[in-house]
Amino acid sequence: MTYDPARPAPWTRDGGRDGAYDDLADALGALLEGETDALANVANAAAALFAALPDLNWAGFYVLRGEELVLGPFQGRPACVRIPLGHGVCGTAAAERRALLVPDVSAFPGHIACDLASRSELVVPLLDGERLVGVLDLDSPRPDRFTLADLEGCTRIAALLASHVARL
Ligand code: SME
Repeated sequence: MTYDPARPAPWTRDGGRDGAYDDLADALGALLEGETDALANVANAAAALFAALPDLNWAGFYVLRGEELVLGPFQGRPACVRIPLGHGVCGTAAAERRALLVPDVSAFPGHIACDLASRSELVVPLLDGERLVGVLDLDSPRPDRFTLADLEGCTRIAALLASHVARL
């Protein structure tokens, strides 16, 4: 499947309904197909996620650079640039190489408040095989915004991205 700008994209519809991640995965697969530039691919992925999913104030990526995460492409307000592994939601998800769904960021010890509007957060590691490439981070101004369907959907998106962003 190739990217067809004439075909309705998931970010033009209600991303909260069932099947939103199926459509997003299809559209993203088409956007990534044949494109080897990792920076362009994560930039489009951040934009696609932000546009397709409702109630987000931030969607983007942090990239692993040595022992810290460094801000990558995103949509939303400017964010903190460097997060040491093990710090905040992103650094914890990266260090533990597992997704973290945080219903209430104020209850997460060490949460890093880049945007004071954020109330809940979902972070999914980007793994190229065993190697950690970075994390995908979604923030919402709505408490308890993210569900297990979001966690599974974003894990799928991260897996889809992994081979396209290996050299970020
Ligand atoms: N809240 C994150 C920091 C990144 S911003 O949300 C964009 C954290 O605690 O790691």
